[in-house]
Amino acid sequence: MPDPIPQTMGQQFGRRSWAEPWKIKMVEPIRLLPRPERERALAEAGYNTFLLRSEDVYIDLLTDSGTSAMSDRQWAALMLGDEAYAGSRNFYNLEEVVRTYFGYRYFVPTHQGRGAEHLISQIAIRPGQYVPGNMYFTTTRLHQELAGGTFVDVIVDEAHDPTHLHPFKGNVDLDKLEALIRRVGPEQVAYVSLAATVNMAGGQPVSMANVRAVRELCDRHGVRLFLDATRVAENAFFIQEREPGYADKPIAAIVKEFCSYTDAAWMSAKKDGLVNIGGWLALNDWDLFEKARNLVVVYEGLHTYGGLAGRDMEAMAVGLVEALQDDYMAARIGQVRYLGELLTRWDIPIVQPVGGHAIFLDAKRFYPHLPQDRFPAQTLAAELYLDSGVRAMERGIVSAGRDPVTGDHRYPKLELVRLTIPRRVYTQAHMDVTGEAVKAVYENRERARGLRMVYEPQYLRFFQARFEPIAD
Ligand code: F0G
Repeated sequence: MPDPIPQTMGQQFGRRSWAEPWKIKMVEPIRLLPRPERERALAEAGYNTFLLRSEDVYIDLLTDSGTSAMSDRQWAALMLGDEAYAGSRNFYNLEEVVRTYFGYRYFVPTHQGRGAEHLISQIAIRPGQYVPGNMYFTTTRLHQELAGGTFVDVIVDEAHDPTHLHPFKGNVDLDKLEALIRRVGPEQVAYVSLAATVNMAGGQPVSMANVRAVRELCDRHGVRLFLDATRVAENAFFIQEREPGYADKPIAAIVKEFCSYTDAAWMSAKKDGLVNIGGWLALNDWDLFEKARNLVVVYEGLHTYGGLAGRDMEAMAVGLVEALQDDYMAARIGQVRYLGELLTRWDIPIVQPVGGHAIFLDAKRFYPHLPQDRFPAQTLAAELYLDSGVRAMERGIVSAGRDPVTGDHRYPKLELVRLTIPRRVYTQAHMDVTGEAVKAVYENRERARGLRMVYEPQYLRFFQARFEPIAD
């Protein structure tokens, strides 16, 4: 395992520090509510951080999705919106960027990632087929299931172990994938669903060697390989840092090579795309593209806007290129690691190695006295908000939902709280405040009693479920 970025906390170690390759031109005030008001706000939100009002949050680490700060270039691009219903200039600019930087032939814009997931699932999955993937993501798997598919996890075992220091914990386990293809037959495998920097594993990357090997295996069996490119730029950073032969390659070149091993990709541009809304689907196969272009008009909008305003597409075209700059990415991952190093110094249990977009607190080790059906990660996210107004997200048993066949809770090995760092939004001082808040909650960990779920919605329950504290 290579060392963390050596520049972080440089002063303490006698090295030179890094800094962001931008300066701040506009600010948005935030404030910390007094504790009694935080207690009220959390109770009103049913102890679910998704249901808090943003105004009641001090440092918002719920998600890195749609929460980026746009650059002055992106704001200027908004003014170039061509709001024609059909054939907007901004569509062609965006299509050109996706072709140039990601390499796919055909392109369909969508309002966000799950819009693209819906399209690809509907056009590429026949009911009864299997969809192997390197760990599930909530919306991705749900769309695969709604299309009649069955998701099968084929990620390496190390991904489920929060302490294992494998440098590419997002990798596909080739034996697991091959065993599935042999068991059900290649015609029963809709496609391989490969995600870059696997979100639910802790933002863990996939190596270039692995995607190449998956491609080769898919070719041998005649199975398609599709990529969730939502955080593919961050994935490229880890390849540059850790994989022999890539240290001198720019992030942009690594992304292009990575994508070249796959047949299609979808992206929630709300993450690496550095925009507040937007997504896309891109494919090399004409027939599949034809189907996507037909379906997009049913659910999203005409194929030249896909649910987006022209100005949104222009901002995305600029953001996608900004995210591929090496200095930007070093600062981005550097900030996430800075928080990770603080917590590690205080022996707070987090997923290691620190991944791309977030720090994941390990709630099972944080609260070893709480059984999983008392929702330890949900409890921890609630306690963190109470302590400091920092908003985090549960990524454990609540997010995993219920098995569609048995109706039981799925009990994931990983019971995590995600402190997700928005891009270009917070400073190092915000990271210090956050780290100290987690430390304070950790020092009071024995007092936590857990939560009981009192309302459970049918789909993606983590968004809207409500809880009550257990008193004993
Ligand atoms: N794929 C991945 C890996 C994601 O992380 C997300 C969203 C999506 C697809 C869906 O994209 O939100 O634009 O519809 N993740 C957000 C998160 C919600 O907080 O991790 P979307």
